[in-house]
Formats: sequence, C-alpha cells, structure tokens
Amino acid sequence: MNAPTRYAEALLTGMLGTFGLDVQYVRAEQNSLYYLDDTGTEVPVLDLIGGWGSLMLGHNHPEIVAYAKELLDTGWPVHSQHSAHPVADQVGAVLNGILGREFPGAEPYSIGFANSGAEAVEAAVKHCEFDRVLRMQSLVREIEWHADVALRAVREGSAALPDDTSLLPGEVPVPTTVEEFAGVLGAMAAHNLSRAGAGPVFFALERAFHGKLMGSTQFTYNPLFRAAFAALGSTVTFVPANDAAAFEKAVAEHRVTVLDVEVVHGRVTLVERAFPVIAGLIVEPIQGEGGIHELTEEFGARVRRICDEVECPIVVDEIQTGMGRTGRFFASSHIGLLGDYYVLGKSLGGGIAKSSAILVRQSRYRPEFELVHSSTFAKDGFSTAIALRTLDLLEADDGAAYARAAERGGRILGMLRELAAEFPDVVADVRGRGLLIGLEFADQSNASSPIIRGKAQAGLLVFQLGSYLQAVHRIRTGPTASVPTMLRIEPSICISDEEIDRLRTGLTQVCLILRNQDALPLVHP
Ligand code: F0G
Repeated sequence: MNAPTRYAEALLTGMLGTFGLDVQYVRAEQNSLYYLDDTGTEVPVLDLIGGWGSLMLGHNHPEIVAYAKELLDTGWPVHSQHSAHPVADQVGAVLNGILGREFPGAEPYSIGFANSGAEAVEAAVKHCEFDRVLRMQSLVREIEWHADVALRAVREGSAALPDDTSLLPGEVPVPTTVEEFAGVLGAMAAHNLSRAGAGPVFFALERAFHGKLMGSTQFTYNPLFRAAFAALGSTVTFVPANDAAAFEKAVAEHRVTVLDVEVVHGRVTLVERAFPVIAGLIVEPIQGEGGIHELTEEFGARVRRICDEVECPIVVDEIQTGMGRTGRFFASSHIGLLGDYYVLGKSLGGGIAKSSAILVRQSRYRPEFELVHSSTFAKDGFSTAIALRTLDLLEADDGAAYARAAERGGRILGMLRELAAEFPDVVADVRGRGLLIGLEFADQSNASSPIIRGKAQAGLLVFQLGSYLQAVHRIRTGPTASVPTMLRIEPSICISDEEIDRLRTGLTQVCLILRNQDALPLVHP
C-alpha cells in the first residue's frame, strides 16, 4: 500500500523520517508516548522532550484530564467574550500570591491572556510600546505647557529671556524680544518634532529565543529564524548575556533627548530632557533554545539598575523556565531579577489547554491596552480553568512540585555530570537547573569516523544520536536548533529513578559510540 500523501509539514516530517523519528504516537501518559509496532502492540517511549517544556506535570495528568472532562460534561462556557471572568482573576490572584512569595515586596501585577508563548511575547512587547507612546505624548504635552508658561511669564515680565540657546541645533541667536523668544520656542518645537520618530528601541540578548511570529521572531537571536523576516518588525538591539557593561553602553548609544524650558531664578532656561525612545528589554532568566545559559545575579542586579535609570521596562520571558521547572515558580527569582512584565506559557495549560499570560506591574500597566488588544480565543473559559487547576496542583503541599523539580533535576544533573567526568573526551558540558537541562557534546566535525564527522559537519549529529536513542533505548530527546551539539532534556516532575537510569544507560552507549568512533550502531541500530 502506498504511503498516504503528506499535507502537513511534509518536508519536516520527511526529514524526521530519515532519522526514523517520524513515529506516530497513539497514546501519551506521564513520561511516555506510545506507538504501535507491526503487530499492533503499544511500544512505550520515554519522552524527555516533554513538549519542549509544556509538560511539567507529564502527559495527560489524570486530575487535569478529569477536570477537563468535567468542564465539558457540565457545559462550562468556553467562549463567553465580553463578560465577567472570575476564573481569569483567580489565575491572576494565584500568580500574584506566588510573585509576592518569590519576590517579597513586589507590587501587584495585572494579568492578560494569550494563546501561545510567541503571542504573549508580542502582547508584552506591544504593551511596552503602547506605554512608551503614551509616555512620549505626555512629555510632549508637558513641554508645550512649559513653553506656554514661559512665553506668558516673559510677556508679563515675571521671567527674563533666555541668555543661552546653545542647546538648539544651528546658530539660533539669543532672543532680545518676546517675538524672537517665540521664534526660539518654534525652533525648539521643530527640533523636538524631528526626534519624534526615534524609537522604539528594544533590547534582547544574544542567543535569545522568544518565539517565531512576525514580531516575536525579531527578538529571537538565531538568524535562521529571524533574518528573512527582519523587514516585518521593529529592529532589536542584541547585547551579550551577562555583560552589563555592554548593555549600559548600548543604552547610552540609544539615548535621545529633547528640549524643554524651565524658569530658573527668574530666567527662562533651555534644558534637555530624556525622550522615551527605549521601549524595553526582554530576557529569559535561563536561555533555553539558545543552549541553557543562566543569567547571573550580578547581571540581573546591574540591568535592573540601568533600566530603572532610563525607565526601560524589563520583560522576563518565563515561558520555558517558569511554572516551577527550575525549582521555583519563577526562574528569575533565583537571581532576584524582578521584572516589570512576566510572560508565561507552555505548562500553564497543564499539557492540555493552549494558554499563555502576561503579567504587568501595576504602576506600569496601561488599562487602555485592554481596549486595543484582544484575541478571539484568549482568556477562554476552558484554558483559564485548566490553568487555575494546574496552578493548584503545582502549589499543593507547599509547592511540593517545585521541590520535586529541583530534586529530580539535581539527580539528572548529577548523573550527567558523572557521565561528563567519565567521558571528558566526548561530553563538553552539562548545564541547567531543575528540569531544564542541556548536555553538550564535544565538537565532532573532525572526527575520525566519516559518518560521525559528516553528521557533525551538517549539524545533524544530535539528530543521529537521538535517532539511535529512540530506536535502541526507546528514549526521545530533543535537539536545539541554535546549538546543534546540544541535547535538551526537559522531563516532567514525574520522572522516576528507573527512567533516569535508562537515560544513563542510553547516554553511556552514545558516549561509547563517540569515544570509539564506532558509527555502526548509529546506522544499523
Ligand atoms: N519564549 C521562550 C523562552 C520559548 O522557549 C518559546 C518556545 C517561546 C517564547 C515561544 O513559545 O512556541 O508557545 O510560541 N520555545 C520552544 C523551544 C519552541 O524550542 O524551546 P510558543
């Protein structure tokens, strides 16, 4: 029988096929995905990709499944836009409780919902820009008001004319009459207008991953995902992670000022004011797709200070790191980096619903945003209820789930570090925190085995190793596009000792294959 025609991502599925990874899974439970073999028997595969971080609680968590069924069976409204959504408020309340616990003294955060991580990133970025535009407008109004006040004061004789116009571009003479002063104010307005188009300036970190939609892809560092679409969005300035001096320099380079007038000691004086061109900085506390790199506490603290100085909001993208994966609900709390915005996604939907959320510090929140931003499916009754139940499960027993993420992650990291010590020739590094882990293999592009060398040079060695792990050990691991030598491991908190041992067995064989340059098991598993 001919294989059916593929309509959905035929190229990608075909590529997966060349590595034997185009398996159709028919059932999922906890850490296992099941496919049917030729006899129709279910074969379990240990899933360590974990939905790329969307399965903190594992596949089809029984309580979430039961709750989802109950919601559907009882006719819970799923689509009821433009009505009260107390469940959405409750999600906000729980998240605020967690924020207050992990960042003592944090002010309340308003919550907004979206459907995917990338969409939530875009909503946050859009809110940053909305806030910037409103700040810009109020600055312009304030300057107009000051100009008016100054002109009146000069006319009434209560203030002297300015005696210095050097801040204005060009040779604007010092005014000697009220009319000439009006001309100076006109030149000032024209100068300010010429600055109005500056910005928005957004900063992100090198190696960042924030999604692949038209706007969010601009913040994703890898040119593979961004370059072709650069003209579709705003320009983002990338700075190296953990280099606060580089960030400070980039901020200084982008600062723009406008001119204002003040009456100082009875004389109208021209002054410079910072123009809000800087719209925001977005960071992942631990870079995921970019290769599991954690921000340092020192970087977090300095960046917070620099951003406060220039009123640059910090968007903390916790889409992958959040929901307790790293042992605390917010990975940024490990380094004490308090964001003005938080973005959550992935596991927020409990592995069942599609949901994401943005939290905005109330002193930064622009309620008018609610009138200009919405999505048909965001904040729907089903996904918010599932998110609330997911949070309940995570928060239960004093956050036992977070402790478990830390403990299980520690055990896996310990095992991987032992492996790295045993195979220093083939394992370059082991990085991570909690259940967000990366194992980086040493570069094999000069390997003596032509097969290993060829795959490494094509950036596909980890696919080939993944293919072997899947075929022989029934373990599913994930590559990361930006670091082709890295294997990403993001299991659920349910991962057992026995499953960790299985991973150790599989990876030991992989290390032996690389050490012995014995590619035979890779091609004939
Ligand atoms: N932000 C971060 C930090 C992410 O890791 C991802 C997705 C997104 C945003 C976008 O979320 O896929 O729901 O639109 N990361 C996956 C990965 C795809 O490979 O790590 P999305």
